[in-house]
Amino acid sequence: MKVGDIEFKNEFVMAPVKTGYNEGNGRVTERHLEFYDRRASHLGGIIPEPFYLDRGLRELPTQMGIDSDDRLDGLRELTGVIHQNGANAIAHLNHPGRMANPKIDGNFFVSSTDKACENGGATPKKMAQEDIKEAKSLFRDAAVRAEKAGFDLIELQFGHGYLVAQFLSPKVNDRDDNYGGSFVNRSRFGVEVLREVDAAVDVPIQIRVSGDEMIDGGIKLAETKKFARELVENGAEGIHVSAGTVCTTPPWYFQHMFTPKGKTWEMAKSLKPQLPVPVTTVGRINSRKDVDRIKEAEMADFLAIGRGLVADPDFVGKYTGKVEGRIRPCLACSDGCLGGVKSGSGLGCLMNPEVRDFEGLDSSETAKDVVVVGGGLAGMSAARTLDERGHNATLYEKDELGGVFNLAPLPPGKDPLQRGIDYFVEEIKAREIDTIKDKAEADDLKDYDHAVIATGARPVFPNIDGLEDYLWAEVLQEENMPEKKKVMVIGGGLVGVETAKALAHNENQVILVELLPEVGGNMIGLEKAQLLKSLKNRDNVEITTETDIKRVEDNEVFASRAGEELHWEGVEEFVIVTGMESHNPIDQSELSVPSTVIGDAKEPAKAEDAIESGYEAAKQI
Ligand SMILES: Cc1cc2nc3c(=O)[nH]c(=O)nc-3n(C[C@H](O)[C@H](O)[C@H](O)COP(=O)(O)O)c2cc1C
Ligand code: SF4
Repeated sequence: MKVGDIEFKNEFVMAPVKTGYNEGNGRVTERHLEFYDRRASHLGGIIPEPFYLDRGLRELPTQMGIDSDDRLDGLRELTGVIHQNGANAIAHLNHPGRMANPKIDGNFFVSSTDKACENGGATPKKMAQEDIKEAKSLFRDAAVRAEKAGFDLIELQFGHGYLVAQFLSPKVNDRDDNYGGSFVNRSRFGVEVLREVDAAVDVPIQIRVSGDEMIDGGIKLAETKKFARELVENGAEGIHVSAGTVCTTPPWYFQHMFTPKGKTWEMAKSLKPQLPVPVTTVGRINSRKDVDRIKEAEMADFLAIGRGLVADPDFVGKYTGKVEGRIRPCLACSDGCLGGVKSGSGLGCLMNPEVRDFEGLDSSETAKDVVVVGGGLAGMSAARTLDERGHNATLYEKDELGGVFNLAPLPPGKDPLQRGIDYFVEEIKAREIDTIKDKAEADDLKDYDHAVIATGARPVFPNIDGLEDYLWAEVLQEENMPEKKKVMVIGGGLVGVETAKALAHNENQVILVELLPEVGGNMIGLEKAQLLKSLKNRDNVEITTETDIKRVEDNEVFASRAGEELHWEGVEEFVIVTGMESHNPIDQSELSVPSTVIGDAKEPAKAEDAIESGYEAAKQI
């Protein structure tokens, strides 16, 4: 496998994923080195997170930079770690243009246009000739530094709605000079960047493009094909095909679970026969079946994997049979990874708490008998980790393993979450963890060395005068789901919004009521925007915020909003999803063994927190 004259030991590379592991000075940190070291050994190459070309062009305050020669020592350490594992190091260089982060002091914003992205961001300066020259120099200087730092390949970002795509995209570029209008003019800036970089370095250059921006009037596959051919004629030695734009279609860019799997693979497949250079595909490659499908259909020469390698650093090692065990699947939820980066705590993973735990797991010095009460995500995570550390775990669960998370895959588009439950259930079985299908009483725990209490949470229902018959999120189960009825959902958090969507899909007339000023307050931005858009576009959903329900009389509801009286008639079903409270029926003070309370039983939180708290508790025993 080769790109240009660079040999790869196999066709798997890690896709560029921002980590947020820097403290604000742009340097490579120990966290970066450990993160990539843990992932490199079974891969042909690693594309570390995008480097900023200038401190005023950061997407994140915690991004790594390649903007000065001071960075070289750290970057050499990074390429050294990757090379030690037999993988190639690929420097991903990106100029975000108008998509530089407006919240970072000192950032500047330039583009092919003077219009801001319609979904946010700063208003850019429409680039004049000298700005174009300056941007090309930034790419060139960064590429020279990357080569000096030992990178084997340069990847230039020409897609995802960043600067070069802002020139190429007919949706964004509104110029009337020789950089706007016709395809030749719109592609000119990218071609010039490529030529300038190519003239300055000896290492091969590959280009990342969005096969399709997935917007009306944006870049479409036919034009990407033309562009890719032009890039190859001008020196590109590989093409990496993704999709979407950071401005308008982030779910496609980040390949959220709501986007159909395999569209990007199809794009690569249709580009491949047109090009004399290797084509890389990317996007939700997160199971053996996915890899087999791409390889069997010869859709691409290289497979770039991002989150699949966040969730399981040994994904490729397990696929190739070099590492034992089942692949810990990425659910394409973007909760822990993108959510972590955006929140400032750095890249994490819902499925894999080890991503943020740089100490890692050690084996226990003495094997203890540990009982885990409750087989939800927290309990299963604890039992699995205890077993991994060499303890003898026993798991009590009177109902189905998975707990309340069994409802999570039921709303439309959320079925990938089922793989998360399946993974833990299969792990419990494969590790032969003793599972007792019963409720544990305090007396059952006395013969163990330690007890982990993971009894979860229960819904809380506000007292609404006159409302006695209602359902909770179990309305999502097929047997409880109404059809063609008028349904009021009380509570507009994540569960409320998803429940409303599921009800609307089932042809119900839905009224979603929230006390706070906005719905979906506890959701990550990507999912929230997508879900709310789909709800607001439906004519069978009414959303009412800042609304306080006063009383219900049969099918009539009386409420108030900012002093105004509201009234609905003919409501046939009520669903209340206003929150959860910890459920812990075991009195710890009466236990004769040490105990730890974890997950929702300690404090109701997200799935990621539940899995992490099980892991952390098991690590301390
Ligand atoms: C947290 C996160 C940050 C990312 N940052 C970038 C980025 O800065 N530039 C880029 O081109 N792609 C970025 N990506 C996209 C990935 O490179 C990849 O295309 C996408 O995650 C789909 O592949 P996957 O399903 O294998 O993760 C990012 C993805 C994630 C999850
Ligand atoms: S947080 Fe979700 S999307 Fe991100 S890597 Fe983990 S499982 Fe995949």
